[in-house]
Amino acid sequence: MDTTGSSDVYEALLTRRSVRKFRAQPVADEAIERVLTAAMYAPSAVDKQPWHFVVIDDPQVLAEIPSIHPYARMAASAPAAILVCADSELAHGPGYIPQDCAAATQNILIAAHALGLGSVWCGVYSQPDREAGFRRLLSLPESIVPFSLVVIGHPDEQPAQPDRYRSDRVHRNDW
Ligand SMILES: Cc1cc2nc3c(=O)[nH]c(=O)nc-3n(C[C@H](O)[C@H](O)[C@H](O)COP(=O)(O)O)c2cc1C
Repeated sequence: MDTTGSSDVYEALLTRRSVRKFRAQPVADEAIERVLTAAMYAPSAVDKQPWHFVVIDDPQVLAEIPSIHPYARMAASAPAAILVCADSELAHGPGYIPQDCAAATQNILIAAHALGLGSVWCGVYSQPDREAGFRRLLSLPESIVPFSLVVIGHPDEQPAQPDRYRSDRVHRNDW
């Protein structure tokens, strides 16, 4: 697998946007694997790499998602989604689960963008109803904590790039 990458990382960080409309075209297995490779290169506390990823590309399973997650309705018409999970037995401690999984989730978004795909991070963690819903839908073992759902596909919209830099949020040496 080619893990060298060739995109301008800084450019990708600024031009990535949440994409919620997708073309019907499926996402190639190779692209999913490259995106998950990027996820697994994320930093994690004590390098525990506590993550697991459930790739969802069965339209019937995708169609169930809006009943679990009201803000992930786009999943029903997307070609794929990835549930980022943590294995609580592998993580350095419970407090590190959201940090490790957030890093992996962000890597997925950036890698998807670098490959010309669109994606959106849908929050799952610390919402008991959503966590229980995904546990049930995907038969997750007890030790597995669902963290985020990344809905992914070939983009059918191009959200504008906002201007976000705020100098009033930057402090130097003192508040
Ligand atoms: C923790 C977290 C949870 C989010 N949950 C949702 C969600 O449930 N549904 C959704 O459509 N977008 C969700 N988003 C995406 C945000 O709405 C989006 O990142 C934000 O509006 C900024 O837009 P951008 O991603 O294009 O920069 C979530 C983002 C984060 C970081």
